[in-house]
Amino acid sequence: MRVLIVGGAGYIGSHVCKALAQRGDEPVVFDNLSRGHRHAVRWGPLFEGDIRQARDLDAVFTQYRPAAVMHFAANIEVGEGQREPLAFWDNNVAGVVSLLGAMKRAACEVLVFSSTCATYGTPQSLPLTEDEPQTPINVYGRTKLAVEQLLADIASAEAFRYAALRYFNASGASPDGEIGEEHDPETHLIPNALKAAAGRGGPMKLFGVDYDTSDGTCERDFIHVMDLANAHLAALDRLQDGAHSFVCNVGTGTGYSVKAVLDAVEAVTGLPVPYEIHDRRPGDPPRLYADVERSRDLLGFRPERSDLHSIVQDAWNFYKRIW
Ligand SMILES: NC(=O)c1ccc[n+]([C@@H]2O[C@H](COP(=O)([O-])OP(=O)(O)OC[C@H]3O[C@@H](n4cnc5c(N)ncnc54)[C@H](O)[C@@H]3O)[C@@H](O)[C@H]2O)c1
Repeated sequence: MRVLIVGGAGYIGSHVCKALAQRGDEPVVFDNLSRGHRHAVRWGPLFEGDIRQARDLDAVFTQYRPAAVMHFAANIEVGEGQREPLAFWDNNVAGVVSLLGAMKRAACEVLVFSSTCATYGTPQSLPLTEDEPQTPINVYGRTKLAVEQLLADIASAEAFRYAALRYFNASGASPDGEIGEEHDPETHLIPNALKAAAGRGGPMKLFGVDYDTSDGTCERDFIHVMDLANAHLAALDRLQDGAHSFVCNVGTGTGYSVKAVLDAVEAVTGLPVPYEIHDRRPGDPPRLYADVERSRDLLGFRPERSDLHSIVQDAWNFYKRIW
């Protein structure tokens, strides 16, 4: 099956391309390379274009006639969203309106969308089920929630069907070290801890050590990017089999603390992780972890590489190759 991977030059999209190609599907990447990397597009053609440009989208649909779309392209850095809300609403929401218009013109009716646990905001109960109220506390989360609502409206009126996958913390790299996480700026914990251990840049900034958690640091649910990629394949298959639209968490159901991550980095690299302690960041919930029942039932999803050691080891193998 030919699948249009919008944002496929980025971190998660490139791993999904690899997983699709490995099982014989045909990924076609559409990306403006604003944040992604040409060298991460290895499993099919790259069509350079912007989702906010209807003519770019119409051209890629006409040229490749994909059976389905997976949409990863977005502005993702939470702090940037607070500073540049208009740019976030433009790319993350208006961009999807533009994409959906092009899908309609091309009669392409199946979409897998990258949503996020940031749509829940500060959880009222844990583990986070999909029925938890969605009250995002930042611009990024609000733009993603707006898209979920947009998709629901369209699916209720048209033949269009979608899966919105609410990822927890995507992490790790392709186990063979071929591709990995290369955000710039990088705000994610594991790459930054590895950078600090390798002496690239300053010490890790540890935000808050006085939370009511096992060791005082925040706990997060880390999902290996290849497991996440497999969840996308399962979601696509379900939609291709005729399923109704659905939303689904993708996490492991287990939270690891920031300090546990630093310990894993030290164990894998054999290097100490220098860090400095800062105040809590406003809006960081102490704990976030997914309820995984729906992903098991709907997708048959069982993470295979999402233990902390494998995640950190795979990320480290990738960085050792490119640094
Ligand atoms: N990384 C995580 O932990 C995480 C967690 C939850 C949800 N998500 C979501 O997953 C998706 C992918 O995240 P990622 O970490 O791979 O991000 P990324 O920045 O690595 O990839 C995004 C890609 O989209 C491209 N892009 C951005 N705007 C575009 C536009 N207007 N037109 C065409 N291409 C455009 C970028 O060039 C980049 O290649 C995002 O939607 C993000 O919100 C990520």
